Amino acid sequence: MCGIIGYIGKKNAIDIILTGLKRMEYRGYDSTGIAVLQNGEFTVRKRRGKVAELEEIINLDHLVSTCGLGHTRWATHGQPNDINAHPHIDTNGEVVVIHNGIIENYDSLKRDLKSKGHVFRSETDTEVVAHLIESIHKDHPDRNLDEIVAIMLGEIVGTYGLVIMATWDADKIVVARKGSPMILGIGEGEYFAVSDASAIIEHTRDVVYLNDGEMAVLTRTGYSVRDMKNKALDAEIDRITYDLDQIEKGGFPHFMLKEIFEQPESIFNSMRGRIDYETLSVRLGGISTHLGRLLRARRIIIAACGTSWHAGLVGEYLLEEYAKIPVEVEYASEFRYRQPIIYPDDVVIVISQSGETADTLAAAREAKSKGALVVGIVNVVGSTIARETDCGVYIHAGPEIGVASTKAFTAQVTVLAQLALMLGVYTGLDINKRRAFVDALKTIPDLVRRTLELNPEIEAVARTFYQSTNFLYLGRGYNFPVALEGALKLKEISYIHAEGYPAAEMKHGPIALIDENMPVVFVAIQDSTYHKVISNIEEVRARKGRVIVIANEGDEYIDKLAEFVIKIPVTIEPLTPLLTSIPLQLLSYHIAVLRNCNVDQPRNLAKSVTVE
Ligand code: G6P
Repeated sequence: MCGIIGYIGKKNAIDIILTGLKRMEYRGYDSTGIAVLQNGEFTVRKRRGKVAELEEIINLDHLVSTCGLGHTRWATHGQPNDINAHPHIDTNGEVVVIHNGIIENYDSLKRDLKSKGHVFRSETDTEVVAHLIESIHKDHPDRNLDEIVAIMLGEIVGTYGLVIMATWDADKIVVARKGSPMILGIGEGEYFAVSDASAIIEHTRDVVYLNDGEMAVLTRTGYSVRDMKNKALDAEIDRITYDLDQIEKGGFPHFMLKEIFEQPESIFNSMRGRIDYETLSVRLGGISTHLGRLLRARRIIIAACGTSWHAGLVGEYLLEEYAKIPVEVEYASEFRYRQPIIYPDDVVIVISQSGETADTLAAAREAKSKGALVVGIVNVVGSTIARETDCGVYIHAGPEIGVASTKAFTAQVTVLAQLALMLGVYTGLDINKRRAFVDALKTIPDLVRRTLELNPEIEAVARTFYQSTNFLYLGRGYNFPVALEGALKLKEISYIHAEGYPAAEMKHGPIALIDENMPVVFVAIQDSTYHKVISNIEEVRARKGRVIVIANEGDEYIDKLAEFVIKIPVTIEPLTPLLTSIPLQLLSYHIAVLRNCNVDQPRNLAKSVTVE
């Protein structure tokens, strides 16, 4: 949510900032802006819309600077328009600020500052930071920018990733972090502050992940990490390992399609080196030292949001069936506020692609404060959740840029399957069941590859239904969460109203919606619930609903029940979500394309939701 970049060095800051903003545009894309220091003054350019539109006006300006900052916005306070776009400035344009997060006490601060004569231009919470710095500077003209930022941070309440510059302490960038990601890039004679390392990987791979409650100062000659009182701290340098081509489209028209097609590799990578095919066991290095505590767990609570929550639901089925440990799955946003009863012998697993989702992070902190073991299942290496949890497992899906999550979901499910097996080895899982599970996991990347070959068939289904206004998705057992995920994918990127339900619940409400205009997508795999789902299909047909079915290869019976049947390869029941989810991802993708929607950057959404 919001992309942030600050640069100080020897190169042209404008090019570096604009390229970085384009990379981070998936984080927020309603408006964008930059500020650069030229001859001791700031030039600020900002506007509603995409980075490419900002670039057009900047190109006309012929700006030259080696120090500046830029921002892509996902609006919280104030509409997405030119004025509310970041950067924000103080009264005289001597301070510039970009911000990701929410200043919760902005209203009272604003009133106070207004009474002192400050004139505000925008409706944002962020602008208050620029004026507050101006006001503190007026009272302490002898102090430098970092000292003044430290005083300012004592007055604001909320969450922030802040990047700040001032003309009266030029050639310096001050950054601060609380609750929103902030990463320093350490180059040769150049330094960066970004909310996402992908923005700078062609310039440097050496990064410092700022912790919550830390500030940093970047100058042309170096950087230093400080606490919020401006006292110097030691900082560890990490290295980014992914490559530029992993964050580019690589010939695909959209990131989402590229990421759907990457799933044979991403699933494989989420298992690489973890499964011992001889002993039929799994080793997840990040949690192996906590195995005893996991096995003694009275119960496992899984907390997550969005697609990650759906993966958690599949995890519930997997862990209960294979590890025989009771599992509860919670929306992180509900869990954190309902005063949950958490015992020290509970294990809380938080699942997050970005590792930055505010509610999931808060759930992890809540669980940790109550003494539970907190395990993270995360994609983004070095993210806040990855660093704050007691232990964890990276899913290794690689960078996911499309806002609608696809390959992260299947990699999360694959990791949960491995966790279930790892624990099951110690909780009495039958050896034949173990063997069947390991054998099936091994073949999944190939089966995913074969499932992807169905793409043209799925596109044909999309062409038939893309003008529908409602969709229903139904599945049972392991494929109930897949039905939810299919509906979510469609809503997110095509703006068609869609609902997912456990198939048997259909008769308790959704059946009232069915008529000849209602497409109903069934997941009807030949598993333990197959015959029940067939009955549900009959019930929809009897009411003239239009039936699309995801079924197994070799199931001929189903052909006469449905208008469209997509036949996927057969695997064991617990791993079917890894295959059944793929046609549903493709269906929503093609429908969104046919409706001319912005697939990778759907309206109102953001990839990484760092505000509550
Ligand atoms: C946002 C994204 C979803 C994602 C959810 C949770 O809503 O648009 O795709 O599933 O956040 O994100 P996380 O990074 O925690 O998995």
